[in-house]
Amino acid sequence: MKKQIAVLPGDGIGEEVTTEAVKVLRAIAEVFDHSFTFEHGYVGAAGIDKANDPFPIETERLCKKSDAILFGAIGDPKYDNDPKAKVRPEQGLLRMRETLGLYSNVRPIISYPILFDKSPLKESLLKNVDFVVFRELTGGIYFGKPSGRSEDGSQAFDTCLYNKTEITRIAKMAFEAAEGRKKKVTMVDKANVLATSRLWRETVSEVAVSYPEVELEFMFVDNAAMKIILQPSYFDVILTENLFGDILTDEASVIAGSLGLIPSASLGDQYKLYEPVHGSYPQVAGKNIANPTAAILSAAMLLDMSFGAKTESKIIERAITEVMNQGIVTQDINPTKFYTTSEVGDHIVSLIKSDKIVDFEAETII
Ligand code: IPM
Ligand code: MN
Repeated sequence: MKKQIAVLPGDGIGEEVTTEAVKVLRAIAEVFDHSFTFEHGYVGAAGIDKANDPFPIETERLCKKSDAILFGAIGDPKYDNDPKAKVRPEQGLLRMRETLGLYSNVRPIISYPILFDKSPLKESLLKNVDFVVFRELTGGIYFGKPSGRSEDGSQAFDTCLYNKTEITRIAKMAFEAAEGRKKKVTMVDKANVLATSRLWRETVSEVAVSYPEVELEFMFVDNAAMKIILQPSYFDVILTENLFGDILTDEASVIAGSLGLIPSASLGDQYKLYEPVHGSYPQVAGKNIANPTAAILSAAMLLDMSFGAKTESKIIERAITEVMNQGIVTQDINPTKFYTTSEVGDHIVSLIKSDKIVDFEAETII
């Protein structure tokens, strides 16, 4: 296949981790005889520095003409310390989501047996953890109007707003995913308090009728926050609104042992973007020590979800697991014996190119 990928490294470690993801995609292209071209764009603080805009129009055009978007991270401390800054890198991310209509954020959480001791949870809780969160990404309190300050500045307000269309389209995606998994959707809300949550329950119940094989249950967000830690293997597909999804996915990410391991996809009807869940981690930017796994797994999600290249995607996942099993990991995973960002990427690449990985269909690789 012939595809064009927009690469938006963004800020901080975004640059070095997306470099590794691109390296892996190039290796896949070589082994499977695909033609991938990569075109780079600026976003976040990098966009502000270049074009005084965290989501410059050139970047928007690049995203719109590409077959998929690979994104790194956003955020720069020089803006965090200035609450009065008019333009902030994060605005670029929110505008990118809104402009490209990326309404469904998919964050898979799995635990790697080799990393059980890195997780703050007991090993007995980590076995068989494999769930995915569908977080609504372009609605709710993040985007609801009005939002702002009263005239005298003594009050502030945000609005949580959802309509049925917004709920239905992401609910369908969650149910479709559940059909191919353990067939359970847990919808997380605060329906005992919030009107929007009650609209979610009503709408999701209507969507559920078309997926009779999938069990639907409702859970209050406070209870879900507890259950994710007490019994993470309980979940299959979690469906939730924007702010609850933001909080719960950070919470869930600690299960795996490092934030450097969790990829994500942000999907819309026209455009799809893939990014590691971690932030720009400016303290280590440029040091070649950041964990590239989440970015490389994001590239694997891209192959599967945007290009339908399931085998290629699985091969990346297996190469990552194998390299991890060999102890080739970054400092966040093993502070005493560690490899650099690019070394981890190199090992994954050479495994993909090696003949050990060829007989995938027969499930006999490595
Ligand atoms: C995320 C981030 C963003 C969010 C911030 C940076 C605006 O935390 O992608 O989860 O809250 O959505
Ligand atoms: Mn977040």
